[in-house]
Amino acid sequence: MSLSNGRSYLAIPGPSVMPDAVLQAMHRAAPNIYSGELPDMMPGIVADLKRVARTEHSVAIYIGNGHAVWEAALANTLSRGDRVLMPGTGSFGHGWADLAERLHITVDRIDFGKHQPVNLDTLRGALAKDTEHTIKAILAVHTDTSTSIKNDIKGMRAVLDDLNHPALLMVDCMASLGCDPFEMDAWGADVMTAGSQKGLMTPPGLGFVFFNDRADLARETADLASSYWDWRPRANPEFFYQFSCGTAPTHHFYGLRAALDIIHGEGIENVWTRHHRLAQSVWAAAEAWGKGGSMALNVSDPVYRSHSVTTLSLGGSTADDLQNWITENTGVTLGIGLGMAEGRHVSPGHFRIGHMGHVNAHMVLGMLGSIDLALKALGVDHGAGAVEAATRSLAG
Ligand SMILES: Cc1ncc(COP(=O)(O)O)c(C=O)c1O
Repeated sequence: MSLSNGRSYLAIPGPSVMPDAVLQAMHRAAPNIYSGELPDMMPGIVADLKRVARTEHSVAIYIGNGHAVWEAALANTLSRGDRVLMPGTGSFGHGWADLAERLHITVDRIDFGKHQPVNLDTLRGALAKDTEHTIKAILAVHTDTSTSIKNDIKGMRAVLDDLNHPALLMVDCMASLGCDPFEMDAWGADVMTAGSQKGLMTPPGLGFVFFNDRADLARETADLASSYWDWRPRANPEFFYQFSCGTAPTHHFYGLRAALDIIHGEGIENVWTRHHRLAQSVWAAAEAWGKGGSMALNVSDPVYRSHSVTTLSLGGSTADDLQNWITENTGVTLGIGLGMAEGRHVSPGHFRIGHMGHVNAHMVLGMLGSIDLALKALGVDHGAGAVEAATRSLAG
C-alpha cells in the first residue's frame, strides 16, 4: 500500500505541471510544416506570447532551453571583449555570467548574496563610476530560481535612466514569465529571455528572446551573432520555420498554443493574482512551521519573494529526508536546494517548492498538507497550524 498512488504533483520549479489540454494538443500525428494548420498558427502564437510578456516589440523563438536563450540574448547584442554588469542574487545570474565569459565577454559581477534583492543604490554606484559607458548591458534575473529572490526590474531601469546610462537592460524571466507581473515595455527591459517549461506550462524545449528596437540596433554591430543564434530571421515566423532555421518544433507549438489559450482565457492579470495568492498561502504555512522548528523562508521581505517558487531551509540532511519521504508517500515531488551552499550546486539543508503555472488552491493545499504530514512522520520539530494558516491566507 502506498498513499502516493493517484495523480502526482511535480512541485519543483520547472518543468512545471502540464495541463491536460497541453498534453492532448501534442498527442497527434506529425503535421505538415510547409502549409496548413501549423504555419497558420504562428502569427497567433507570436502575438499571444507578446501579450504574456507585455511587449509590442519582437520575439525570436528557438529550439532550446534557458541556457540557449541566455546565449542568444548575448550573441545578438554584444561583441567579444565587450563589458557587462551582472548583479547576482543566486545561481542563475552567475550561470548567465559564466556563459558570457565563455563568449569572451568581460563580466563585472556584484554579488548581493542569497537572501536580499539587488540593492539599487549599489547598482547606481557601480554604473555611476562607468562614465565612459563601457558597460554595454546589465544581465538581470527577475526571479532567481535558486534563492527565490525577485528583483526590482523597473527600479533598475530607473537607475539607468537617472544616470543617462545607455547599457541595455537584459532580463531573465525564465521563472517569472506567466507567474509574476512583468511589463517588458512599461518597465523598460530591452531584452527578455524565457522558456516554455515554467509559467508557459509546456515541455522544456522552446526558448524565447523578446527584444526591442534599441536591442535590435545593437544587433547591427554584435559580432557574436552567428547564423543559428541570429534573432532577425526568427522574428519573422514565416521565414523561421520554413526556410532559415531548420525543422519547426511541431508538437511544442501545438502544446504552446493550448497553454496560451489557457493563459489568455483566464486573463494574464488573473494568472498573476492566482500565483500571488497561492504563494502567500505557502509563505503563511512556512511561517507557521518555522515557529516551532528550524524551517525558514529564504527571503524575509515578501515584496522580494517570487510568486512562482519558494526556497526554504531546513537544516542538515532533514530537507533531503523530507523530499524523499514526500515523494515516496504522498505523490508530491519537491525541488532540491540549489546553489545555497558555498561552491556547491546542490544544497543540502534546503528545498524549494514550485508553485508555478498550472496550479490551483487544492494542489497547493494538498502539497502543504503533504509537507505537514512528512514533518510529523519524520519527527521533525515544527510549529503547528501551517495548513490552517494557509487556508486562512486563501480565505482572507
Ligand atoms: C531563472 C532561470 N534562468 C535560467 C535557467 C536555465 O534554464 P534551462 O535549465 O532551461 O537551461 C533556469 C532554469 O531553471 C532558471 O530558473
